[in-house]
Amino acid sequence: MDIYLIIIWVVIFLGYFIYKKATKNAKFFEKQGVPFKKPLPFVGNSLRLLMKKENMIESLMDYYEKFKHSSVYGVFSMNVPFFVITDPELIKQITIKDFDSFVNHDKSFNEDVDKFSSKMLFTLIDEKWKHMRSVLSPIFTSSKMKMMFGILSECANEFVEHHEEKAKHGKVIVNCVETYPRYTVDGISTAVLGFKGDCIKNEDSKLYKLAMRMRKPTFLTNLKLMLFIVFRWLYIKLGLQLTLKEVYDFFYNAIIKVMNEREEKGIFRPDVVQLLLQARKGQLQKESDVNEKELSNFSANIEYDTGAQNRKITNWTDEHFMAQGFLFFAAGFDTTNILLQITSYCLAKNKEVQEELIREIDDVFEELDGKPITYEALHKMKYLDMVISEALRFWPPAFATTRQCNKDYDMKLKDGKVIKIKDGDLILLPIYAIHHDERFFPNPEKFDPLRFSDENKESIALGSYIPFGSGPRVCIGSRFALMEAKLLIFNVLSKFTMEVCDQTPEKLELIPSMTEITFKKAICVEYRPRKKNN
Ligand code: HEM
Repeated sequence: MDIYLIIIWVVIFLGYFIYKKATKNAKFFEKQGVPFKKPLPFVGNSLRLLMKKENMIESLMDYYEKFKHSSVYGVFSMNVPFFVITDPELIKQITIKDFDSFVNHDKSFNEDVDKFSSKMLFTLIDEKWKHMRSVLSPIFTSSKMKMMFGILSECANEFVEHHEEKAKHGKVIVNCVETYPRYTVDGISTAVLGFKGDCIKNEDSKLYKLAMRMRKPTFLTNLKLMLFIVFRWLYIKLGLQLTLKEVYDFFYNAIIKVMNEREEKGIFRPDVVQLLLQARKGQLQKESDVNEKELSNFSANIEYDTGAQNRKITNWTDEHFMAQGFLFFAAGFDTTNILLQITSYCLAKNKEVQEELIREIDDVFEELDGKPITYEALHKMKYLDMVISEALRFWPPAFATTRQCNKDYDMKLKDGKVIKIKDGDLILLPIYAIHHDERFFPNPEKFDPLRFSDENKESIALGSYIPFGSGPRVCIGSRFALMEAKLLIFNVLSKFTMEVCDQTPEKLELIPSMTEITFKKAICVEYRPRKKNN
């Protein structure tokens, strides 16, 4: 009998202990007087996400609509509290003016989670991040972009020629979800790794298949992540890691081995691996042309000086450089793919916008007088820039970003209230929700490139348009992504129009997921050869 009593007490005690642990943050926002949705034990506000009842964007929108009149509100991702910022002024303050208190994305993504991923620029923290950012920023200057323009142009031409071949007997239906990553994977692999994956023409391209596996987290990866968030000690004890071995091996061969071989043989190729090699030797020089103001690139961000004291590389390992090459590949192909999908969908659905863009493209063609498009000519196209800027507002491929406080901070709100943000507290910037807030973008569900015309763009509140993030931690590859997307749209529309067809979804509806932007019905548009070019 006694033994049963002991077991009951142990179970009660354990149950209480686990419950206490799971609910320890429940009063987190209440103490600060910040509005929030009451969390459930263990799952916080993520129950519907975990039950696959909604998508992360829908979940964020739901809370945003409820709380947007407060500059800051709270949500719980599982049992982790996040301050969500709805006021563009505060976003600017956190990401730019008071950056010193919010240097990092999320410190918990460290070596314990994954030895390899924790070496990437996105996850690096504090001085290490500052140093690596200043080492890498010369890779994205305009002179380097111009160097990569030629190779991206070739990919865009190949894409269009392939579709012209397919459309020989009339129209061709393009499943954008399946097709655009073939261009973006080829583009990023040529620019970063120096070789094409033959993704556009070869249905069975190995690189394409690898990229698709990287895109979709496996059940096991999700499980590991969940374990890390809720029971970190167990994850660490089990020695789990996230990077797939086949992915690691592929990039090891494509980056480290190639860097060593080029160094040995004195080979030069105009790609990022070459620039990483220069960076490894401490020879990558800062240039003054990072922020080209004269070109039309509204959404591209300026590069800030990180203030890294010593730019000479001392303690970076080969794996650090490999991690950056991998990150550029991983961060680059799917985001730009989503941008292209959305742009094509919106152009097919908005004929007058497409016609205006085609007029601009034809004018540029005339000026070029038969010569291929140049970096300068592409970047002077104002309407193209307006269309891409609006696509990035309408469906930002990165729907949110985070900051973690690294120095206690008094957040002063408009109403005079002060919220004490502590070292380690997490901030969420809900990019999609802010882009769809009618206070900043009237009639937000309308695709309207005119928002970004010279006359109108001045009235966009600073901090309310952040498709690439904001401040020194902003996306480092924004200009590359814009160039890649613009090149493809330019080349496609110079030969085809994009039309709605039977397979084009009426509305864009998301599949329930915590991480992915995938639509229930794949975006398909019809490419119809333009009469002029027949
Ligand atoms: C349409 C395409 C893209 C979108 C919408 C996008 C968006 C973003 C966003 C929102 C962030 C977080 C910024 C912040 O927290 O303030 C980010 C970071 C980053 N992106 Fe992109 N990105 C795109 C393409 C690319 C490309 C092509 C590359 C590389 C070639 C790239 C490399 C990175 C890196 C390395 C970071 C981390 C920067 C740091 O922590 O210092 N991205 N991106």
